[in-house]
Amino acid sequence: MPSHTKRIRKAVFPVAGLGTRFLPATKAVPKEMLTVVDRPVIQHVVDEARAAGIEHFVFVTGRNKGVIEDHFDMQFELERTLLDRKKTKELEALMADLPKAGQASFTRQQAPLGLGHAVWCARDIVGDEPFALLLPDMLHHGATPCLKDMIEAYEARGGNLIAVAPVPEDQTHQYGIVGVTDTDAKVAGITEMVEKPPAGTAPSNLHITGRYILQPEIFDLLAQQEKGAGGEIQLTDSMIRLMSEQKQPFHAVRFDGTIYDCGSKLGFLAANVAYALDRPDLAPALRAEITRLMS
Ligand code: G1P
Repeated sequence: MPSHTKRIRKAVFPVAGLGTRFLPATKAVPKEMLTVVDRPVIQHVVDEARAAGIEHFVFVTGRNKGVIEDHFDMQFELERTLLDRKKTKELEALMADLPKAGQASFTRQQAPLGLGHAVWCARDIVGDEPFALLLPDMLHHGATPCLKDMIEAYEARGGNLIAVAPVPEDQTHQYGIVGVTDTDAKVAGITEMVEKPPAGTAPSNLHITGRYILQPEIFDLLAQQEKGAGGEIQLTDSMIRLMSEQKQPFHAVRFDGTIYDCGSKLGFLAANVAYALDRPDLAPALRAEITRLMS
């Protein structure tokens, strides 16, 4: 690691979104708590961060999201009951999922002003160090955790990194899109970025998948960021300024696995099938059930 490269210790999870695409399921239950197999979506994303060496988990929540904080806390009655019933394996698994005392922070985004504003809400907790950002809707399913690949690339290069993957051309207007120096390389320099480009204007088919490593200077830019696409304070717009005005390096790290957008019904259903097929206790019976349904 270059000596000037500070280790990535903290990860930010913006979990304030209303989940309107999932009503009525998300009326009382945060969308991040919907389960993919038997783990809440947010737990899968925290697992990815922990596997990449993250030590502090920063959640930007909002009203009606209190259950996320409960999920990452002890639950004494449950733990006592499991102990009394000698269910040690279940108890150990529960404890392994928990951040250690003092390793999780929660702050609220008071109004839904956009992703850039949500990230800015974490500024005091992150402080003056580079950090990871993981958008919980996007489950990255692959051989190695996406953030782990990114941290390796960061340790070699420093600067800012964004995970990218190709999307069909007719979907580029739904995402942040980057232009790169080499579209086939695992890690390539980013030459341009645009948030939700109108159809036919995207600089490439590589979309921002929701995993970032960012330098703390992003916070000052977010503080004065004007509204962009969709009338929201966009993270991408501040990243563009960090790259063009402050000349900070940005690299794209290509993710080779499959991404499931769990904010959409289809993505969520597909994620449940894909993650269940990874599970030896479920896969054979699920395969048989799918075959029966399709016949
Ligand atoms: C956000 C980002 C966008 C990125 C996307 C991935 O958009 O602004 O650049 O491609 O997440 O899901 P949103 O989904 O909040 O509209």
